[in-house]
This record gives sequence, structure tokens and C-alpha cells, in this order.
Amino acid sequence: QPDGRLETELLEIALEAATRAGAFLRDGRPEDLGVAATKTSAIDVVTEMDIAAEKLITGLLTDHRPEDGLLGEEGASVEGTSGVEWVIDPIDGTVNYLYGLPGWAISIAARKDGETLVGVVHAPMRGEIFRAVRGEGAFLNDRPVRVRPAPDLGFALVGTGFGYLTERKIHQAEVVRQLIPEVRDIRRAGSAAIDLCDVAAGRLDAYYERGLNPWDYAAGDLIAREAGALTGGRPGEPLSPALTIAAPPGLFEQLRTRLDELGAWHD
Ligand code: IPD
Ligand code: CA
Ligand code: CA
Ligand code: CA
Repeated sequence: QPDGRLETELLEIALEAATRAGAFLRDGRPEDLGVAATKTSAIDVVTEMDIAAEKLITGLLTDHRPEDGLLGEEGASVEGTSGVEWVIDPIDGTVNYLYGLPGWAISIAARKDGETLVGVVHAPMRGEIFRAVRGEGAFLNDRPVRVRPAPDLGFALVGTGFGYLTERKIHQAEVVRQLIPEVRDIRRAGSAAIDLCDVAAGRLDAYYERGLNPWDYAAGDLIAREAGALTGGRPGEPLSPALTIAAPPGLFEQLRTRLDELGAWHD
């Protein structure tokens, strides 16, 4: 099967899964939604809807492509035999979803041979579907998106986020404390996937965070790159859970150098 056709098929499936999960999460959000369980800390929560949405998504993916691997935040883990692996965050921005804030999204990516072929990020309360196919650009609701021209670091609006572990939060707050006077301003919107898409759409100049997982950034990374951003980790390293940075060329290097000086990564 030529790669072009595979990518088209994967994109269609990802869009269907994200759209269905989006409707389910938006229309089915219980009034009395509560915390179903906690994970790495007492404030790292999961709701019944995170779990149900991941089941809906993985069920649909498996119906279409039973040979594919699966990696999902809420436990999906299947080896697969086709070489294609789906990386899924059923709700990125769970705390926003829990509180009824609009900044949450479904993030679905398909990888093969270590490369992301397709990424979809759907933010139902914003009425937005971001998508990208490797080499074919990034789109928001079918319109092409592009990063904004790189400003100097001092004029950059920079998105970031904090983890759920107290020690990490203290460290991340210390990095932000030093960075705030050196940039235009900081945004902490609550969804890494949306932050990466907002860089892609020129709504943020840059984004960085330490301690993400592949399901947080897999789709947004491709969308940001296809919109003209560079993404990566520490100097010379690819983006990874240790550090994720996205920004247009010019700003990217400045921000990465500064974050490295500030020790913004973890091992
Ligand atoms: C979180 C969000 C948040 C980021 C955290 C992530 P979740 O994902 O992306 O913006 O700061 O690091 O864990 O738990 O809401 O899926
Ligand atoms: Ca989570
Ligand atoms: Ca997430
Ligand atoms: Ca999640």
C-alpha cells in the first residue's frame, strides 16, 4: 500500500474517532462529574469520562484496523503487528473538563517507524479540529494554519504548563519566575495539545513544558511542525518527556538556549 493512501486512511479514522469522542464528551458530561481515581498525586485526577472516551476511541480504531498498536493515557496498551501505533489522549485538559472550562481536547496521533504520520486535536467547546498529515501542512477546520513570524524572545507570548507533582511544580514555577520578566507574558491554558495547536495557529509565539507524556504531544507536535514550527527538547535533542519546546525558527533557538540555562528539563 503506498504511503499516501495509508496516511489518508489513518487521517479519516482519526477524524472519525475524535469527532465521535468529542460529541460524547461534550453532550454526555454529567452535571455532577466527579473524580473517579487519582494517579501520580492527589491532584492528578481521572474522571469516568476520560476512561469511557478512551474505550470509545480504541474500540473504533480497533474496528477499523485490528492489527494496529495502541498507546493511551488511560491504560490502552497493545503491541500490534501492522507497524502502525495510535497514541491517544482521550481528554487532554482533564482539570478544565472537570471544572467546566472549555480548554480541553481529544488528541489522536498515528505513528509508524518512529515517525508521526497523522495528528488530530479536537477541541469541541472551541468548535475546532486541528489536523496534519506528514508533509502536507496543518489545518484548522479545513483552513491552512501557519505559525506567526518569530518575534524576539522579549516580545514572545509563551505558553507552558505544570505537572501534578509538588516537586516538579516548585521547579517549574522557579523557571517561570525567571522567564516572566524576559518575555511578553506567559499563558497556562491547561491542555498541552491545544497549546501546541495554538502555536501552529499563531495564537501563541511559543510553548514549552517539562514532564509531558507522548499522548500529550504526539499529535500537536506534528500539527505545530506542519504549520512551520520547530519542535525539540534540550539543545541537540528531539522533543521528549524531559522537555518539549515549540516555536518558529529564530525564536525556537533563543527560547531553547534560555530554557537550558534555566535548567527547565528533567532527566
Ligand atoms: C495535562 C495537560 C496539561 C499539562 C499536563 C498534562 P491531562 O494532561 O496537558 O496542560 O500541563 O502536564 O498532564 O492530564 O489533562 O491529560
Ligand atoms: Ca491525565
Ligand atoms: Ca494529557
Ligand atoms: Ca488526559
